Amino acid sequence: MPEFKLSKKLNHIAFIMDGNGRWAKMRGLPRFLGHKRAVEILTGVFDACMDYGIRVISCYAFSTENWNRPQDEIDHLMDYLEEFLEKKLDYFMGKGAQIRISGDLSRLRESTRLACQKAMNETKDNSNWVINVCLNYGGRDDIVKAARKFAERYKKGEVELDSLNEESFKDYLYTAGLPDVDLMVRTSGEERLSNFLLYQNAYAEFVFTETKWPDFDKKALTECLKEFEARKRRYGGLKDE
Ligand code: IPE
Ligand code: IPE
Ligand code: MG
Repeated sequence: MPEFKLSKKLNHIAFIMDGNGRWAKMRGLPRFLGHKRAVEILTGVFDACMDYGIRVISCYAFSTENWNRPQDEIDHLMDYLEEFLEKKLDYFMGKGAQIRISGDLSRLRESTRLACQKAMNETKDNSNWVINVCLNYGGRDDIVKAARKFAERYKKGEVELDSLNEESFKDYLYTAGLPDVDLMVRTSGEERLSNFLLYQNAYAEFVFTETKWPDFDKKALTECLKEFEARKRRYGGLKDE
């Protein structure tokens, strides 16, 4: 079967990687093994996105609300994320992928914060792809922090009030310099945003799949892209894009 060819512009794909706990439960396993598997499949999904030429990939790894989970589950999640960032440095360098971490790193334990900083530092000059890991990320927190950053610069006299508009506001968000999200995919059948990239998703197409994140692969991605390809993006106008 010939591989599906994506013709629509897709600069930025964002994943809400959901369903890890249910994936594990269905197999009679503890929830944390769902998270382990979720991290193990990540590079396969990145490879698949790169095969389709998608240059910016965001993934929701931990939300500002996920602190409400049991500490033991949080610890496992951080262990896997840290290990991922450390062990996959060669992969990122080989691909020429830049790692960005979006979110408030100050609340993370030191080892996680250091792993994040190291991955960002070592990959900062890579320019083929951007992998944007959203960690302790909240869309509302992102917007409020952006507003505060602008206010601080304004107070110091560094910027004019008139310089702030819908475009320039993006420079104050965690995702500064990245394009808006074109396609937002949520796995596991839940159909909500859960505080993910609120400003950046303003005109994204949303695709929801029943597949749980630990089972997500190139085939599942291709199905999402086919759905995206069939969408008519009008941006409030009348022309289909
Ligand atoms: C998503 O999987 C991972 C994180 C939120 C960190 P869940 O852990 O939410 O899995 P379900 O939704 O309980 O199945
Ligand atoms: C969203 O999933 C956060 C991540 C995938 C990191 P959740 O499972 O935490 O979201 P809710 O609680 O179902 O909205
Ligand atoms: Mg969930």
